[in-house]
Amino acid sequence: MDISTIGIVGAGQMGNGIAHVMALAGYSVTLSDVDQDALDKAVALIEKNLDRQVSREKISAEERDSALSRITATLDIAKAGATDLVIEAATEQEAVKHKIFESLAPHLLPHTILTSNTSSISITRLASRTDRPEKFLGFHFMNPVPVMQLVELIRGIATDKETYEACMAVVDRLGKTAASAEDFPAFIVNRILVPMINEAVYTLYEGVGNVRSIDLAMKLGANHPMGPLELADFIGLDTCLAIMNVLHDGLADTKYRPCPLLTKYVEAGWLGRKTKRGFYDYRGDEPVPTR
Ligand code: CAA
Repeated sequence: MDISTIGIVGAGQMGNGIAHVMALAGYSVTLSDVDQDALDKAVALIEKNLDRQVSREKISAEERDSALSRITATLDIAKAGATDLVIEAATEQEAVKHKIFESLAPHLLPHTILTSNTSSISITRLASRTDRPEKFLGFHFMNPVPVMQLVELIRGIATDKETYEACMAVVDRLGKTAASAEDFPAFIVNRILVPMINEAVYTLYEGVGNVRSIDLAMKLGANHPMGPLELADFIGLDTCLAIMNVLHDGLADTKYRPCPLLTKYVEAGWLGRKTKRGFYDYRGDEPVPTR
């Protein structure tokens, strides 16, 4: 199956990155959101990130301009639905995702492949509520999308071979690499990464280290590009908590219990970089630990 048009639902952190790489690879992209402000911010950010790639001589100015010309931002979800491949990239809340798939349903083309960029929710369950579980796949990008090489592809119980292969061809065209994961809570990357982050929060909660020493220890002691608390702020503490809850509920093992301190930060609305406060405060020139 030949894919040339992509609909992306959700213009947040992941949606704008996905639109960026798809447009750069030559796909015609429709980016939809319910919030005009989010769309405006997404387009401005894509422009900024493309400029950065131009200035580092990763792409030419012509490639940047033609990528931008291939992106249409819209409040109309119908336009994102009437494409060859839809990628839902909304917030990590199952009810929101079900609602989006319901709104898309009347607008999908008969051949449209439906995918979700969910970082943890069951693909089989999301697919079962649509009219096309066989054409449904988990299409999970990593943040920042333009930089990270991996895409996890997750087949639900009903996903057919043609759908999987069509999405694999898209990953190839993006110049990225796919890892196949079975449809179990949080798949591969987040099954391993987010409990590590949660453990870092316990390490802080129990006073084993402070924010700086925990991040320093993992950067210099394990060669991680970012410390776990810095990474948690980067991913979003609400997303980290949502993933821990999916693991805890889905695998019913106490080893996945979310750290109460992580819950407290989320309750405070201190969600990390996107709200300018998390384990670090980003409101000044330099990030400063909040504990
Ligand atoms: N768009 C385009 N390019 C970007 C970019 C963006 N948003 N952000 C960074 N870059 C580029 C820079 O231009 C730079 O390119 P060159 O190497 O060509 O010069 C390169 O990325 C490195 O950037 P910087 O030098 O500015 O910064 P850095 O060296 O500190 O690296 C980082 C930044 C790549 C984000 C690095 O810190 C890193 O790899 N962090 C870990 C990220 C990670 O683990 N992501 C996975 C999160 S988990 C996830 O996403 C799954 C989930 O579902 C929660």
